[in-house]
Amino acid sequence: MSTATRTRTAARVVDAVKVYGGGDTAVRALDGVSVGFEAGRFTAIMGPSGSGKSTLMHCAAGLDTLSAGSAFIGDTDLSALDDRRLTLLRRDRIGFVFQGFNLVPTLTVAENITLPMDLAGAKDGDASREWIDALVDVVGLRDRLHHRPSELSGGQQQRVAVARAFAGRPDVVFADEPTGNLDSRSGEEVLGLLGRAVRQMDRTVVMVTHDPVAAAHADEVVFLADGRLVDRMPDPTADKVLDRMKAFDASGGARREGEGPS
Ligand SMILES: Nc1ncnc2c1ncn2[C@@H]1O[C@H](COP(=O)(O)OP(=O)(O)OP(=O)(O)O)[C@@H](O)[C@H]1O
Ligand SMILES: [Mg+2]
Repeated sequence: MSTATRTRTAARVVDAVKVYGGGDTAVRALDGVSVGFEAGRFTAIMGPSGSGKSTLMHCAAGLDTLSAGSAFIGDTDLSALDDRRLTLLRRDRIGFVFQGFNLVPTLTVAENITLPMDLAGAKDGDASREWIDALVDVVGLRDRLHHRPSELSGGQQQRVAVARAFAGRPDVVFADEPTGNLDSRSGEEVLGLLGRAVRQMDRTVVMVTHDPVAAAHADEVVFLADGRLVDRMPDPTADKVLDRMKAFDASGGARREGEGPS
């Protein structure tokens, strides 16, 4: 690989296995997944319900631990961290956006956005303020800063959650179905926002979604089926993604890497 094309990997898992439960009821949610998420890119994770998308995201983000294999944020091996270090890593290096917006109802928009940094006792005052200021414009919430979440639409609340996720300039933002509770117009706004954060602000986003239109906002789609990585699609379009999803449906979602079309 030449220097010019060398990429940094913001997050990756290697031979990731996750088994929930034990004995007869054990579920192998991840069955040996290796995948890297490049820095400065927007990656979507797709696959049938139950294919392990959320599990992959949670394990890659240090919200859950793998049964076998390893997960890295940058060069940091998550399995080598004790609980305290893992908590600090999640706070300082990772941002999260969930389907439910998870805002604090008693805090204003401005307070919700800066909450993670306030908790961290932000060290670089002016630089942080400038960054947050730019972020507020990117998410288009300047005139809502002193409102509370209950006074905002769902789309606006999710934009606050996106701003909060990026507030501490994390290495990577993980989003699990961030548009799942939004109408298509609000969803488009949030997706546009994630795309702009990546392309204009050099951020890294990994997003789980069911929606081919949402996935088309990403630079690349990775497809899971039955806890395995089965495909990667650079430069996705909604049509191409939809066709790929239909192929899953036709094969009952059971097609594995290396197997040809049935
Ligand atoms: N805490 C848990 N305990 C037991 N089984 C679990 C747990 N979490 C997930 N699973 C199982 O692991 C498998 C993968 O689940 P996961 O939530 O990762 O799927 P998903 O691809 O995100 O699905 P969806 O699209 O429905 O959100 C499923 O069979 C699920 O039932
Ligand atoms: Mg899920």
